[in-house]
Amino acid sequence: MKRLLFTGLLITQMVSFADLLFGQEPQITNIGNRTTITLNGVWKYVVDPYQTGYYDYRREVRDQQADPSKSESLFLGYKAQDPSERVEYDFDKSDNILVPRDWNSQKEKLFYYEGTVWYYKKFDYPAPSAGARQFICFGAANYEAEVYLNGKKLGKHVGGFTPFNFEVTGKLNPTDNFVIVKVDNTRGLEKVPTINTDWWNYGGLTRDVNLVEVAGTFIQDYYIQLADNDPKNIDVSIILNGSEKANQQVTIEIPEANLKATCNTNGEGIAKTTIPAKNLKLWSPEAPFLYEVKLTHNNEVLTDKIGFRTIQTKGSDILLNGKPVFLRGICIHEENGVRGGRAYSREDAQMLLGWAKELGCNFVRLAHYPHNENMTRVADEMGMLVWSEVPVYWTIQWKNPDTYTNAHNQLTEMITRDKNRASVIIWSMANETPVSAERTDFLKSMIKTTRQFDPVRLVSAALERHSKPGTKNTQVIEDPLQDFVDIIAFNQYIGWYDGLPEKCKTAEFEINFDKPVMVSEFGGDALQGNHGSKDARWTEEFQEDLYRETLKMLDKIPQLRGITPWILADFRSPRRLLPDIQDGWNRKGLISETGDKKKAFYVLQEYYKKKKANYSTK
Ligand code: GCU
Repeated sequence: MKRLLFTGLLITQMVSFADLLFGQEPQITNIGNRTTITLNGVWKYVVDPYQTGYYDYRREVRDQQADPSKSESLFLGYKAQDPSERVEYDFDKSDNILVPRDWNSQKEKLFYYEGTVWYYKKFDYPAPSAGARQFICFGAANYEAEVYLNGKKLGKHVGGFTPFNFEVTGKLNPTDNFVIVKVDNTRGLEKVPTINTDWWNYGGLTRDVNLVEVAGTFIQDYYIQLADNDPKNIDVSIILNGSEKANQQVTIEIPEANLKATCNTNGEGIAKTTIPAKNLKLWSPEAPFLYEVKLTHNNEVLTDKIGFRTIQTKGSDILLNGKPVFLRGICIHEENGVRGGRAYSREDAQMLLGWAKELGCNFVRLAHYPHNENMTRVADEMGMLVWSEVPVYWTIQWKNPDTYTNAHNQLTEMITRDKNRASVIIWSMANETPVSAERTDFLKSMIKTTRQFDPVRLVSAALERHSKPGTKNTQVIEDPLQDFVDIIAFNQYIGWYDGLPEKCKTAEFEINFDKPVMVSEFGGDALQGNHGSKDARWTEEFQEDLYRETLKMLDKIPQLRGITPWILADFRSPRRLLPDIQDGWNRKGLISETGDKKKAFYVLQEYYKKKKANYSTK
């Protein structure tokens, strides 16, 4: 019964309140395997700090006006028709910028820029297939995007790290279409994340942009994973989008497993079935086998590569395919320090996850927001387990209903995109959020939504931990959220923010849960190449010693089933101001931004070798 309920709920709730609010279509998944015309490449851009192209001098929103001024309304993409006409912008004469990429790392003058940038791209669409529909799909845009096609508004998206799409059927010309996107990355207290973070607020069209062509009624989304941790049954649900979505037959084929099934859609265009499966090759970091899966509806054939694995907890154990596993992890920010700026490509993912593999990891915490889809797909291929998180970070506005809607929307978009990725095993709700009744209610609702959308994967968050009053060095976790998560995770910085590495020797953790425990962050800053005594902060030797002492300390926690030290590579942060050491970089990486390893890298590598050996006998 639970299984049936699960499949139904997951699909029907794809259209969230924010989607409706901003005129977004439900998310179309698996863009990479659809018929697409890429809009990546060179775009034109205009920097508009006063948002002149959006608000008139009376602060009225121009795209809400009946007759917005052609001279200043940038979303119209208007060009002067004769020399006497006053038009105060011209995209064709404006500078070039690359998409996907952030603007900060492309243009020196935009390095610190936070505000509005207008993006402009011209494209032709000469030959639409008969009866086809078209959507413009964005992998992400940080932070708020207002999208226009040929001068007409399509809609808006809020949140910098999840996909969105707009239908443009019937709105395209054979030639000279232009899409204009107003992207604004201004920070705000009410936003998610809020105004204060420890990462660079890269702005722009940071991920792929595609024009996607689909059939009149098409496979919009699907869920194909093992049913409720039962390795013998595959749960399938498929949703069709279009006027002829009801009573349609859809076929699912998994040739390498000799499986084929058909099912019919109901009145809402949803089809669901369970396919008995024998001897499936289960996906794991050691054997990341991905099956080719083929979905067919009329002439439409959609393929994907999907791995099947079970993930659950039992007491303080985490069981992957029924076997205890230790999560040998590392935290990663979505940044390619070598090139500079946000990571976005398969190559970026292969570089970052390749370093994690070299470290001996089987797990990564993608901090503190959903990374691009290349990361989770490459993790599937490489065999890397994934913790994926929404940017509910530090002190967001818990009492603000719009903030909740926003966070909820980012959560559902994250799950929607990656629910078929075997690598993703944990959904994280938050990081280091101060305990209050409003905060706990907020996060409990997020957890409830997550379990409705996906009751199979594990749920966690970086919970609050503090020193036990009246003790010298005892840490306790007393976070009301502990009863609602599957894994008790917390960040700790004994030896860096709290004393010196020496303090690890006497530290104790009072953790009275029969649940798996994960330490989701620890570490300290070191400038690569800066050497000295182990007592000197900022040196590799200090960081190396800190790792040694911390790992010994954490091994004393009986329920410890995973760690994700902070962090794989140095990353940019406007909070890090120490000259000649930080210079705008958080230096807690085990690898520098130029790709050079620090001594602590090898301490962790050695520790993971032993951990792996220990667990392989379990
Ligand atoms: C915090 C936080 C990170 C931050 C890190 C640090 O715990 O979660 O985002 O970068 O500590 O201080 O370096």
